[in-house]
Parts: sequence; C-alpha cells; structure tokens
Amino acid sequence: MASDPGFEELRRRHAEAEVAGGEDRVRRQHKAGKQTARERLGLLLDPGSFTEMDKFVVHQSHDFGMEHQKIPGDGVVTGSGRIHGRPVFVFAQDFTVFGGSLSGAYAGKICKVMDLAMKTGAPVIGLNDSGGARIQEGVVSLAGYADIFLRNTLASGVVPQISAIMGPCAGGAVYSPAITDFVVMVRQTSYMFVTGPDVIRAVTHESVSAEELGGAGTHASTSGVAHFAADSEEECLAVIRELMTFLPQNNAEDPPIRPTSDPVDRRDESLQSIVPDQPGKPYDIKDIVKAVADERYFFEVQADFAPNLVIGFARLGGRPVGIVANQPEHLAGCLDISASLKGARFVRFCDCFNIPLVTFVDVPGFLPGTAQEYGGIIKHGAKLLYAYCEATVPKLTVITRKAYGGAYDVMSSKHIRGDVNFAYPTAEIAVMGPDGAVNILYRRELENVEDASQFREEKIREYREKFANPYVAAERGYVDEIIEPRDTRARLAASLELLHTKRDENPPKKHGNIPL
Ligand code: HXC
Repeated sequence: MASDPGFEELRRRHAEAEVAGGEDRVRRQHKAGKQTARERLGLLLDPGSFTEMDKFVVHQSHDFGMEHQKIPGDGVVTGSGRIHGRPVFVFAQDFTVFGGSLSGAYAGKICKVMDLAMKTGAPVIGLNDSGGARIQEGVVSLAGYADIFLRNTLASGVVPQISAIMGPCAGGAVYSPAITDFVVMVRQTSYMFVTGPDVIRAVTHESVSAEELGGAGTHASTSGVAHFAADSEEECLAVIRELMTFLPQNNAEDPPIRPTSDPVDRRDESLQSIVPDQPGKPYDIKDIVKAVADERYFFEVQADFAPNLVIGFARLGGRPVGIVANQPEHLAGCLDISASLKGARFVRFCDCFNIPLVTFVDVPGFLPGTAQEYGGIIKHGAKLLYAYCEATVPKLTVITRKAYGGAYDVMSSKHIRGDVNFAYPTAEIAVMGPDGAVNILYRRELENVEDASQFREEKIREYREKFANPYVAAERGYVDEIIEPRDTRARLAASLELLHTKRDENPPKKHGNIPL
C-alpha cells in the first residue's frame, strides 16, 4: 500500500479553516444581515482570483483557556486577488471567529500582506468587522494594532489603501481605517467610534444609539470620516471596485486610461445657459461637471458631507481626473471648515497618485462668522491652500462665475501653479462682490448723499463694469483664456493631453508642515 503523502491532512485542514467560527456563528452573521469574510472577498474580487495566505495561522495565547480554542486563520482572511484584472492585497476580518477581534498573530497576517503590497506596488483593501483588540491578549493585541498603524502610515501616498467598514469598528481600531485613503461604510450594520454609547452615557450622561453615534449616515454626512455610505454589503464592495477604476496601482504609475466613444471635442450647448445671468442665483455645478465628463459620468466622493464643495472622479478623453468644484446650491459655494478639509485631503490624494486636478470655481469667499473663526477656519482654509500649492500634478481650472478674495487664490489659481486657467465670460474675479465693495469704499458718501440707494446702484454698476468680469485678470495673464462654456470639454481634454508629460517638483525636504 502506498504511504499517505499527506493530501488528506491538507484537505482536512483546509476544510477546518473554511468553517471558521462554525455553522452557528455563520448563521448568526447572516441573520444580522452580514456576510462572512470569504463571501465578501468573493464579491470584491474578480471571480476565482483570490489566493489565500496564512490560512493555518493560529494565535499564540495561553491565557483565559485560549490554548484550547484555536481556529485556523485566527479570525482574518488575508491574501491577494484581482480587481478588473489588476492585483490587490486584501484582508477580511471574520466576525465569526472570536468576534473578529485582533490578536498578535492576526495582526501579523495583516502586516504581511501590507508589506507585500508595498514591495510589489499594489493597493491594499481591508474589510473591517471586528470587536477590536482581543481582550485575552492584552498588550500583544495593542502592539498588533500599532504595527498596522505604522504600515498604514508608511504606505500612505505609496499605494492606495481602502477600508470597508462592515460591522463594528471601535476604540483605537478606527484609526487604521482613518489613515487609509477611502472609507466605505454599510448603512445599519456598521459603525465606527472611539468610545461607544455605554461609556458615553456613564461619562457625559448623553444618551445616543450606536447608529446615531457612529453609523454610516453620521460619518458620511456629519463627521466626514466616511467617503461613501452603501445601502448593502454588495453595494459597498461594488463601490470599491468602481473606485479602483480611477486609481493607479501605486505612486509611480499613472491612473488607468479607459477608452471612450465620447468625442473629446464634443460641444455641449446646454453649458451655454447653466450659469444664470443673475450673480446671486444658485445652479448645480454638477450639471457642468457631468456635461464635460466622458459619457457624462461623475463618481462623486463624500456627496453628503460639506456639499458646498463637490469632489469626485471623472474621465476626460479616457484619462481619470479629480474634480473639485464649488457648489453654488449650498451656502452659495462658500468655503467653510468642512469644505476646506474635504477639498484638501482629496487634492492631496490626487497629487499622491498622479491624478490631474480639474477645478471649477464659483466661490464668494470663506464663510464668515464666529462659529467658523472659533473653529479655526484660518488653519483649516490654509490646508486647502497648502494642498493646492504643493500639488504638482496637472492643474486645470475653470472659473464659471465668482472668484472672490482669498478663495480666488486658493481655488487652483494661476499664482499657485495652475497650469491652464480658463474663465467663462460670466466670471467675476475681484477682491469681493460689488455690494460689499461699494459699502466699504463709499461708506462716508453713502451716509451723506441724499439718494443713497441710487448712489449705491450707480457705484455697484461702475464696480461691476470695472472688476466683476474676467477681463482684468485676462489682461494680466492670470487666466489663460476666456472660453465659451460649450467648449469646456474640448478645451480641458486638449489641455490634459498636453499636460500629460508635465514634470514639476517641490524643493527637497523631509516633509512640509501642513497647518494641521
Ligand atoms: C475577544 C471578543 C471581543 C474582543 C467580541 N468578542 N469582542 N472576544 N475580544 N474584543 C467575542 C465575544 O466574546 C463572542 O464570542 C463573539 O466575539 C461575538 O460577540 P458578541 O458580543 O456575542 O456579538 P454582538 O452582540 O454582535 O456584539 C459585538 C460587539 C461586542 C459590539 C463588538 O462583542 C463588544 O462590545 N465587544 C467588545 C468591544 C470592545 O470593547 N473592544 C475593545 C475596544 S478597544 P462567542 O464565543 O460568544 O461567540 C480596542 C482598542 C484598540 O479595540 C486599540 C488600538 C490602539
């Protein structure tokens, strides 16, 4: 009889690992509206592309009877796979095994795929569903988290890192997703908080539900911690797959080109009338973005947070671009603290990963008020300014209407290395709007003249003719060209093509000191 070459043992071990926490716990997971780690990876990755690593790893704990409870894989499924044919490294926390809690061995598995991702220049996607630090392991677990935080930080700006939150994420565990580039949450079944409702009740006597405190709705709209809120796990994973189509594999690559049948020189007559004649009338800046983009497709990021600034991805002639646009429909497009933070992080992400920036400007300035000043609009607004100044990717700008004051400078102006700056004939580039300017310039006269309102009207008209147009800026070369709105797509696409070979550098330094 031939000796057993060990195949049976191997198969048995595979089967044992795949059962994970056991049928009961898997049933509970499904009942809670959640899928298992392996099911999720099946949806995230191209079919059949997942290759698992460290499937037989077990924890090394001997306390609290843990030596008798060893489950192969130890609560996290790790490995590599493909998304749209391109390699990615993944880890999926398995709530059915010790509540997905993190042990030293488990952290080691995550660190191993992160190290490989860095060495090979491939993105890392983490699916989070965990009770946090494994209580039985104490400081070993905390050390494991720190090992991951360090790798998140070192990988930042080298390979894209994406976090899906598909269950609990509490305590210091939230900081790994927070360092990553994008956070996608699932409504109703996921939450993130530093301290949960029970501790809050004990310490501050505040009563709040987990969903209200740290659910997807809260983080996608109020805190801005999440970039997307999905209605289901399937949608969450589909969002990640879609996001990946805009991103390069690493910071040494350009983002992938997707050929389009949409002609780059397509003229869009609808653009001629999107910006209203009246300077105070709102309109949806996304109508302009969509009219310009390939196939009118705009993949918006953080849609419900700081809606006065719109950010997201689109393609022009097949090339991915990062869109930043003031939204006149919300707060008249003013820049406030939240919008500044949202814009700054996005600009820096695009700059890290060679994604050109296209900025649409219609901004009356920074939002005034004590709430903003006390909240530090100065330092937060400075982040957006800093991010645009340091960005060396191609920067294209279109001023559609207002570009007032400091916000004019901030929004990818020529002066901070805007490469191609267009303006529509409706653009108004000035220190401030006509009303404010006249009130300041003619305060004394307005107090003394007989017909103040007629005097004001006259001065406003004068100011408007002199400054509230794009021609003063054009005469100085601060805008390169005044274009008709219908030509926006063609002009942007041609500029992007031209700028494809752009090279620019910042002075050598350890790192800058962005005003945090
Ligand atoms: C070990 C844990 C665990 C943990 C859950 N489990 N959390 N085991 N360490 N941190 C186990 C449970 O014992 C249970 O095991 C199984 O996982 C499922 O947990 P349940 O409580 O039955 O599930 P559910 O009712 O859905 O509640 C999930 C939960 C809750 C909300 C996550 O388990 C919970 O509050 N856990 C503790 C969370 C926590 O405080 N973690 C520490 C945070 S501080 P059995 O065998 O019964 O199935 C932290 C620091 C990180 O993480 C620091 C980084 C610097």
